[in-house]
Amino acid sequence: MTKKFAAPRGTADILPEESEHWYTVEASAKSCLASHGYREIRTPIYEETALFKRSLGQTSDIINKQLLELKTDKEEGYALRPEGTASIVRCYLENSFDKKEPISKFYYAGPMFRGERPQKGRLRQFHQIGVEVIGTNCKSPYLDAEIIILAMRTLERVDVEGLSLRINSLGSHDDKAHISSWLREQLSKQNQEFCQECQDRLDRNVFRVLDCKKEGCQKLIKSIVKQLPLSKESEEYFQIVQKALRSSGVVFTIAPQLVRGLDYYIHTVFEITAQGLGSQDAVGAGGRYDGLVHELGGDPKVDYGAIGFALGVERILLSRSGQQDGIAGIYAFVIPMTADIQELAFKVTDQLRKGYLAADMSYGTGSMKSQLSRANKLNAKFVLILGEEEIKSNTITVKDMKTGAQERAPLNEIVGFMRLKQGSN
Ligand code: HAM
Repeated sequence: MTKKFAAPRGTADILPEESEHWYTVEASAKSCLASHGYREIRTPIYEETALFKRSLGQTSDIINKQLLELKTDKEEGYALRPEGTASIVRCYLENSFDKKEPISKFYYAGPMFRGERPQKGRLRQFHQIGVEVIGTNCKSPYLDAEIIILAMRTLERVDVEGLSLRINSLGSHDDKAHISSWLREQLSKQNQEFCQECQDRLDRNVFRVLDCKKEGCQKLIKSIVKQLPLSKESEEYFQIVQKALRSSGVVFTIAPQLVRGLDYYIHTVFEITAQGLGSQDAVGAGGRYDGLVHELGGDPKVDYGAIGFALGVERILLSRSGQQDGIAGIYAFVIPMTADIQELAFKVTDQLRKGYLAADMSYGTGSMKSQLSRANKLNAKFVLILGEEEIKSNTITVKDMKTGAQERAPLNEIVGFMRLKQGSN
């Protein structure tokens, strides 16, 4: 038997009826981001493996378990991008944006790859729409607020329902180091009650304990971590972020246990969940990562700031209410009544298309009923029928699929005739 192929595990084909919804989500999100002053950037889907290792942290799940590396002869080669942030910082520095403008606001959309165990809302190839702001002049808490507001607004504009926002602050780099030893001290007191993996994480990177998905560990963490110890400056910074969010009417809760699974974050971090997603309910997340720019080779004399977020498109589509998206149809569907009229039908269809009218034709020779039902499936506004009668009188029958009204149009002026109809509709 000939082998049948299937899409790789954890990936999905996006079929035409779904891609209409993808298009709506991507177009609305992009227009929202552009209207807030963000410009699109596109980077390769693979990069040097070392870029991701340096950015995301050696102890993160993504680096430890999920990086999809490409086979090469080199000892350390390339990997498919698991997220967009590292690539965009690389691109920012490589293209010297820091020499050109004080603040750069980028957005991006595209596939990301993580070798995860697939389940609902968790794929190996998934898509993100994200934003990164990087600059030599962007260490303001108001920018943290802008980013969170923008993430929420984009999700609202694409009709995601039941949004809920959690925020936290990890403080400055110094605070983070202090928090790390404080957490180790606190959690060690109940070390034995954590799962084996968390016990290992306690030594290697205590922040990863807080990401543990196991219910027992989460309960313990909630009972121990009620508030992270921040310096006065970091606490004040976080207060301004909160005040700015409130002034924009954004509702949020403070989650001291939220540290996010990637190493690059400092100060503000956030996660947004949506309804109907089951256990994988984070529809977007982000935070500030000022230090990453230096980590990836930024000028040591420059004080960079950086912050961003990414939204998961598959999860957006699972949770959004927008099944009412209008399916784009064609304008005219040309039906030749017999096989020998196909040549003429082909020419008419070609003329309509050359005239920028969305047209298609029937290549089959089924009954008129089946041809009309095909036109209906294509959401055609008009069908153009060519039979012997029409050929004799040098005309073509134009049927309005909504009203059922029929009229004859001159065959050699059909493009102009259909254009006029489009104008009057
Ligand atoms: P992340 O939390 O790893 O952050 O991913 C952001 C969003 O991508 C998640 O909230 C989720 O909606 C979606 N996502 C992640 N993994 C999967 C998966 N396996 N299947 C389906 N959807 C998934 C980042 O990626 C950071 N780069 C965000 C960021 C940008 N921080 C600063 N700038």
